[in-house]
Amino acid sequence: MEIPRHIAFIMDGNGRWARSRGLPRIKGHEAGAEAVRRVVAAALRHGVRYLTLYAFSVENWSRPQAEVKALMRLLGRFVSSNVDELRRKGVRVRVMGRRSDLPRATDRALAAAELETAPCSKLQLVICVSYGGRTEIAEAARRLALDAAAGRIDPTSIDESAVASRLYLPDVPDPDLVVRTSGERRLSNFLLWQCAYAEMLFVPVLWPDFDMADFDAALEDYASRSRRFGGV
Ligand code: FPP
Repeated sequence: MEIPRHIAFIMDGNGRWARSRGLPRIKGHEAGAEAVRRVVAAALRHGVRYLTLYAFSVENWSRPQAEVKALMRLLGRFVSSNVDELRRKGVRVRVMGRRSDLPRATDRALAAAELETAPCSKLQLVICVSYGGRTEIAEAARRLALDAAAGRIDPTSIDESAVASRLYLPDVPDPDLVVRTSGERRLSNFLLWQCAYAEMLFVPVLWPDFDMADFDAALEDYASRSRRFGGV
């Protein structure tokens, strides 16, 4: 079976999962963090090389402050308490997004996990925080303009690879498969540049319920597709 090299997840439905149990939203996010552990294990088991997770978007800052604060704390706690196990299993943690937006404690925890797992190479776990696809492309455009203004590049030479090399993590290959949970069928500003040829899968299951069987089913669905990249 053909295994996608890179799977990206839009982890949606934590709030609905909590509401359906009469719990506060943050309990849904905590259960979502357990689903992250399961998905990392499944990716390792199948030999997936890159796993990207949409943990917090640039738009998510407009949520109630208590939820934002709790999510930031959860993210920091998640990486700190899992970093040893991740390193042992060969998982390299990387972060992408507008780092300067993050509370200092969260940024420190993420930076420590990136540093401690830097030598790992079995699976790259890319966590998107304060991430927006349009922001990422706009920042790349700004860098191009600065390079052109400083005479480092010729503006007439700007092509796709010039843009791609100025995205947040230019060495990470484009996702082969994007999975969104909870039944919503939108990209929501996720990896807009990188998803040009990605296969999309929308599943009804809420993120905290996403399990190994759902992961296996996603792989089977992917393997059944024929990818043509605009060719025949
Ligand atoms: C979307 O569900 C989910 C989020 C905005 C947060 C995702 C974060 C986690 C799963 C926490 C752990 C992450 C990592 C990487 C450790 P929603 O709140 O929009 O759900 P709803 O649409 O049902 O309200």
